[in-house]
Amino acid sequence: MKKKTKRIAIFASGGGSNAEAILQYFDQRQDVAIVLICTNKSTAGVLDRAERHGIATHIFSKAEYTSSQALIETIEAQAIDLVVLAGYLKLIPADFTRHFSKRIINIHPGLLPEFGGKGMYGMHVHEAVIAQQAPCSGITIHYVDDEYDHGATIFQHAIPVQSDWAAKDLAKAVLAVEHAWYPRVLDGVLKT
Ligand code: GRF
Repeated sequence: MKKKTKRIAIFASGGGSNAEAILQYFDQRQDVAIVLICTNKSTAGVLDRAERHGIATHIFSKAEYTSSQALIETIEAQAIDLVVLAGYLKLIPADFTRHFSKRIINIHPGLLPEFGGKGMYGMHVHEAVIAQQAPCSGITIHYVDDEYDHGATIFQHAIPVQSDWAAKDLAKAVLAVEHAWYPRVLDGVLKT
């Protein structure tokens, strides 16, 4: 019997380089399909990438955030198996995370639990790592629950922080590690 294609929705708020890495990785695969790219920002660069790949997009309305039932229905309507957060900056309502428990995954550009929590996203993470002269940083891929950066860890990969690096150098190094690992780790999760 032919196995069912796994359907992914990506949520992103920014440029979407992680979304791009995921789209390219699964491009030729019959068993996995990126069917929807969702954003909270109508100007997000990820929308152009979606268009180039011919993927449907959805911009969340205020109403969907007021009633998380509407948000749940938007995703359920597409029979989504896995929601992948790739630089998605808005907190996901608790009803949504409970409904899709163990079916939402996030990537954090630092080693949790230390460099995480409210306000610790993007460059804030890298600035904190440099300010603390931490010997290493890296990525954490984890399930999403109703607290920031809190769900169970699926995968971590550490890199050494060079002593002459500024936050922007660290950001560049970590982003390369994100692109290399996020698609592969998602692939592994989809196979379990
Ligand atoms: C990545 O570092 C991601 O981990 C973080 O925001 C950045 C987004 O980059 N949360 P992009 O939009 O995927 O290019």
